[in-house]
Amino acid sequence: MNVNNQAYRTIWLSGEDDTIVKIINQQLLPHNFEIMDLKTVDDFRLAIKDMYVRGAGLIGATAGFGMYIATLEAEDDNINNYTNKVSDILKATRPTASNLAWAVDRVQSVINGVDDVAQKRFLAKQEAIAIANEDAESCRRIGEYGKEIIKQISQKKSGETVNILTHCNAGWLAFVDYGSATSPIYAAHDAGIDLHVWVDETRPRNQGASLTAWELAQHGVKHSLIADNVGGHLMQHGLVDMVIVGTDRTTRSGDVANKIGTYLKALAAKDNHIPFYVALPSSTFDFKITNGLTQIPIEERSADEVRFITGKTECGTRQTIQICPDKTPARNWGFDVTPARLVTKLICERGVCDATEESILKLFPEQK
Ligand code: MRU
Repeated sequence: MNVNNQAYRTIWLSGEDDTIVKIINQQLLPHNFEIMDLKTVDDFRLAIKDMYVRGAGLIGATAGFGMYIATLEAEDDNINNYTNKVSDILKATRPTASNLAWAVDRVQSVINGVDDVAQKRFLAKQEAIAIANEDAESCRRIGEYGKEIIKQISQKKSGETVNILTHCNAGWLAFVDYGSATSPIYAAHDAGIDLHVWVDETRPRNQGASLTAWELAQHGVKHSLIADNVGGHLMQHGLVDMVIVGTDRTTRSGDVANKIGTYLKALAAKDNHIPFYVALPSSTFDFKITNGLTQIPIEERSADEVRFITGKTECGTRQTIQICPDKTPARNWGFDVTPARLVTKLICERGVCDATEESILKLFPEQK
C-alpha cells in the first residue's frame, strides 16, 4: 500500500547479498515513519516480541525471514541444531497468532531433508519470500471477496454511506500488504463505494488509533476514531452496517481469537442484528483444534502497557506517561475468543464461508 504516494510492503529483503531484512518500525507510527534493519536472529526475536512488527500475518512473515537469517548465522557444521534452537526462540516470542509457528515450521520443513548447507540457505530464503508473497496475495483476494459483501450492503442502502466498524489493526501493517479486515475496505473504496470506518482505539496499545487510523488516512478512506466502549452505542442507533475484524488464530470449528475486546463487539453486533465478519488468510487457521476457549493460548503482556500510555506531546516529541496511581496493579490479556456462534461469515482467500467446521472444510477439503 502507499505511504505518501510511494508503494511499500511491511517487510522486504535487502542488501547486495540479501542478508538484511527491512521493516517499518510500527512502534513509532503514526508520528514517525521509519524503516529499520533486521540483521541477526536476536533482531528478529526483539522485533516480534516488542512489537516493532505485529499482526498475525506480519509476525508469520517476519518469523519466516528470521529462519532464513538463522541459516546464515549458523556454523556450517551446526546448522540443524542452530535452526532448531532458533525455531523455539521465535515461536516463544508471541503465543497467540498461529501464523508464527506455521511460518517457522514451513521454512524448517523445506530445509530439513537437505544435506548441502548452501542449498539449505537458498531454500530457506526462497521459502521466506514465498510466505511473504503468498500473504500479500491472500490478502488481496480476501479484499475481492469482501468487496462484494460491502457492495451488497451499499446497494441495499441505495448507495448511502456504508458504516463499518473495525477493532485493532487488521490492516496492511498487520500483514505484508493489503490487510485482512481492511482489504475489503480498500477494494470497495477503490471501486467507488461510499463507506466510512469506525476505528476502535484499541487499548491498551492503541493499534486502532495509531495504525488503522494512519493507514486509512494514507489511502483516503473516510474514518472516525472512537473510544473502545462506543461501538455498542453506535450499533443501537443504526450507525454501524457491518463489523469486520481480523483474527490471530481460528479453530476448525470457527472460533476466533482476536485483539482483546473483539468478543464484546461481537456480542453487541449479535444483539443489534449487525453482521460480524472475520477476515483471514488460511495461515491463520489452526486446523488441529476445535475449541477456541480452551485450546487457544492467550498472550498476557506486561501490566505496564495498561498503566502507561504513549503519544506525542505538544512539542512533537514522543512521550510515555502513567495514567493510574503509582502502585496500581494491572493485568493485560492481549486477545479474547469470539465463539463461532457470534460470527456471521469468515472471509478467506478461497472465498466466504460460515463459521462452522462443515463450511470451513468445504473451502479447505485437504484439512478433512
Ligand atoms: O497485538 P497485535 O497488534 O499483534 O494484534 C493484532 C490484532 O489483534 C489483529 O487484529 C490480528 O493480528 C488479526 S489481523 C492480522
